[in-house]
This record gives sequence, structure tokens and C-alpha cells, in this order.
Amino acid sequence: MTTNIRFQGGTAVITGAAGGVGGGLARQAAALGMNLVLADLDVDRLAAIAGTLETEVITVPTDVADPAALEHLADQAWRRFGRVDLLFNNAGVLRAGLSWEISPEHFQRCFSVNVMGVHHGLRAFVPRLLKDGTPAHIVNTASLGGFLSSPMLAPYNASKAAVVSLSESLYGELKMLGAPIGVSVLDPGPVRSGIFDAPFGDGGGNPAVRSFVDFIQGHVNGAGGITPDQSAAHLFAGIQAGLFWILPFPENLDHAFRQRVEGILARRPPDVYVPEP
Ligand SMILES: NC(=O)c1ccc[n+]([C@@H]2O[C@H](COP(=O)([O-])OP(=O)(O)OC[C@H]3O[C@@H](n4cnc5c(N)ncnc54)[C@H](O)[C@@H]3O)[C@@H](O)[C@H]2O)c1
Repeated sequence: MTTNIRFQGGTAVITGAAGGVGGGLARQAAALGMNLVLADLDVDRLAAIAGTLETEVITVPTDVADPAALEHLADQAWRRFGRVDLLFNNAGVLRAGLSWEISPEHFQRCFSVNVMGVHHGLRAFVPRLLKDGTPAHIVNTASLGGFLSSPMLAPYNASKAAVVSLSESLYGELKMLGAPIGVSVLDPGPVRSGIFDAPFGDGGGNPAVRSFVDFIQGHVNGAGGITPDQSAAHLFAGIQAGLFWILPFPENLDHAFRQRVEGILARRPPDVYVPEP
């Protein structure tokens, strides 16, 4: 299967575009000749990335936790470019902690951004895409955490599992309607980015949690990590191939996920999964 969406001259909308993964997506989309609508909370870094791209680009300060902000983003995209071909619901935050110590505010923030941010994106964009009736594609950024539940990252894992589930529902709904809108769910891989920069919010973090986070961060920022541009190349190859599951690092997922599913079917308690994301 391949996709029939328009890359050259098409329009890509990217949330979290000022971050590592989002910046890679923006560069790859620009290299394919796409016009860009870049959205993020971080207006300065958004402008800096936009300034490096040789394509038509607008930046829209956006908090994806706010449904009105996504409506505004869609308004801006259609007003400037008249169509949208690719929507990346990519903005995300990570909070770490022991499940019973993490604050309700931090747990809530993971869901407000990672889950409701995707939902607000769907509510703002899908009706307009259906009305246009042109081929389009929606990519929701999940994570290994959406498939494998490590300790110390409960709100992040739970939110990403929700993104996986929501994406499967969305895929089924669009199929049932016969809409020309594809869906993918993405694990970008172990990408060197800012995602671990403030995992404890304002707090210092429990020492056990801190060493767990240090381990993952060291792995991603060291030899185990890839660049945002490498990640984006995998992603666009997946979209072009018409994949729903864009999970380009089977060595990080498949064995542990199979063990998890087999464990559930055998009614075994979970293995304690420590990611090398
Ligand atoms: N880096 C990895 O290894 C990795 C692995 C799996 C999944 N992911 C996912 O990839 C996505 C991008 O993360 P990243 O690694 O580039 O991290 P990042 O921190 O570099 O980028 C995330 C971007 O999202 C923006 N953002 C945060 N909250 C927002 C909000 N409410 N509204 C709009 N923008 C907001 C941030 O300002 C930042 O620019 C996330 O969904 C993350 O969970 C990353």
C-alpha cells in the first residue's frame, strides 16, 4: 500500500514544531516541497526553526491543551494555504515520578497535552478535511511507552497508551465513513531532544526516579540515540508506504511487546520493563 497524499506543494501542520522531533519533521516536509504551518508554545524557538526553512512557512503560537487554540491553528492553515494534506499531532510532555508521589497537576498536564492535545487537533481539523474531501493523512505521535509500561513514567505511559487507542478508533471511524484520510501512529525512536529536560516539573525528583531518568537520558543522548532528522526520514518513509504502525525500531519494541502480550494471555504479572528507548 502507498499513500496518495500530496507532498510537493501540499501543506503540513506540525504541533510541537519547536522541539526535536517536530523540527526534524519540519525540515523533512520542507525538503519534500511542502508548505508548513508550525505550532508550539515556545514562540522563540518556533521562529528560529522557521527561519532556517526554505519553503512557505507560517508560525502559530499554540497551546495544544486549549481547544480554541487548535481551532485558531486550523483557521490559520486554511486561510494561508487553502488546504491541509498532513497533520502531525506531535506536541508532548513527559513527567517522571513514583505513581503515588507525582502531583495531580503533573499527571493532568501529561493528559492535557499528550491526549487532549491530539483530541483537540482532531476536532479542529477532521471536519474541515472531510468537507474538502481531498486525500490527507494524520500522524499521532505516541511512544514505546504507549506499548510498554515502564516504572517511573506512569503519566507519560498512560497518556501514550491513550494516544495509541485513540488512533486505532480514529482509523476505524474514517474507514467506516470511506473518508480519504489516512492515519498513522508513530514511535519516533530514541531521539535526542528536549523531552527529558524538565521531567520533574519544579521538584527535584526521588533519587530512584532520578537515576532511572538519568539512565534513559544518557542512553538517548549517547550512542543509543538518533537525530531528529533520522527519525523524520523513517516517519516519512512510513507515511509514503501507507503504514498505520510507524514503529521503525523493532529491536526496541517487538520482543518486549510480545512478552507483554503473551504474559497477559497467560495471566502472568508484568515483567519489570526498563526501556532503552
Ligand atoms: N525524543 C524521544 O526519544 C521520543 C520518544 C518517543 C516519543 N516522543 C514523542 O515525540 C514528541 C515530540 O517530543 P520531542 O522528543 O521532540 O520533545 P521536545 O521537548 O524536544 O519537543 C516537544 C515540543 O512540544 C512543545 N509543547 C509542549 N507542550 C506544548 C503545548 N501544550 N502546546 C504546544 N506545544 C507544546 C514544546 O515546547 C516542545 O517544543 C512527543 O509527543 C514525545 O512524547 C519522543
